[in-house]
Amino acid sequence: MRFKRYPYFLRVVLLLALPIFLAFVQDPATLDIDALRKLYAGPTVGWPQATLDSGIVFRELGVLPNAPIQARDPQYKAMIELGKTLFFDPRLSASQQISCSSCHDPDMHWTDGRVRAIGHNHRIGMRNSPSISFAWASEKLFWDGRANSLEEQIKGSLTNKNEMNASLPEMRHTLLQIEAYRPLFQEAYAHTEPSVDQLVSAVVVFMRSIRSA
Ligand code: HEC
Repeated sequence: MRFKRYPYFLRVVLLLALPIFLAFVQDPATLDIDALRKLYAGPTVGWPQATLDSGIVFRELGVLPNAPIQARDPQYKAMIELGKTLFFDPRLSASQQISCSSCHDPDMHWTDGRVRAIGHNHRIGMRNSPSISFAWASEKLFWDGRANSLEEQIKGSLTNKNEMNASLPEMRHTLLQIEAYRPLFQEAYAHTEPSVDQLVSAVVVFMRSIRSA
C-alpha cells in the first residue's frame, strides 16, 4: 500500500490531522449524522467550528471552579442556614405546599425528574426544571436566558403562577409570623424583620454554596 511508504510517525501525524483538516474544510451542515458522530468522537480540536451569533465570544467548556461561597465560611454560615431553610420551606408559596425543593430536589440532582414541572394547583408548567447545582456559574438564567441574576430569577420562581404563585410582601409577612425563623433572621441580618431582598439574598447565598460532589 502506498501509505506504507511514509515513515511510521508521519502516518500517525497524518491520521491525527485528518479529522482536524476535515473539520475546517467541511461545512457541518453538509455532513450526515454518522460523519458528525465520528468527528465528535475524536478530540475537540477536530470538531466542526461553532456557528456563533455576531458579538458572541467563543469559550471552550472546561472544569468549573469551586462554588463561590464555601459552606464553612463563618461570614456566610448564618445566611446559608437561613437560605437553606427557606429553600425547603413550602410556606413561601401561596398554597403553603410548594417549596423550591419540590422541583429542585437534591436527591434528584436538584431537579424533579419530570418532563415539565408541576406547580401551584397542580398546574403543569411550560418547561423542564433545570438542576440548580451550577446555577451560580451561569451569566443568564432560565432556559431562554431571561434572568440576568439569581436574585431576579428567584423572584420570578416565587411569583410565577405555574410555580409558587406567591406575592412577595405576603410571603414576607407570613415568614415574620413564624417564631422559629426569628433566631435565623437575627443571626443572618442582626435583626428579626428582614426585607424581601434580604430573604432572597439568603437563598442566593445558599445556592452559591452548593457543591456538586
Ligand atoms: C413548580 C416547580 C418549580 C419551583 C417550585 C421552583 N422552580 Fe426553579 N425552575 C423551575 C423551572 C421549570 C425552571 C425553568 C423555567 C424557565 O426556563 O422558564 C426553573 C429555573 C430555575 C433556576 C434557573 C436555573 C438555570 O440554570 O437557568 C433556578 C436557579 C431556580 N429555578 C431556583 C429556584 C428557587 C430558588 C426556587 C424557590 C424560590 C424555585 N426555583 C422554585 C421549576 C421550579
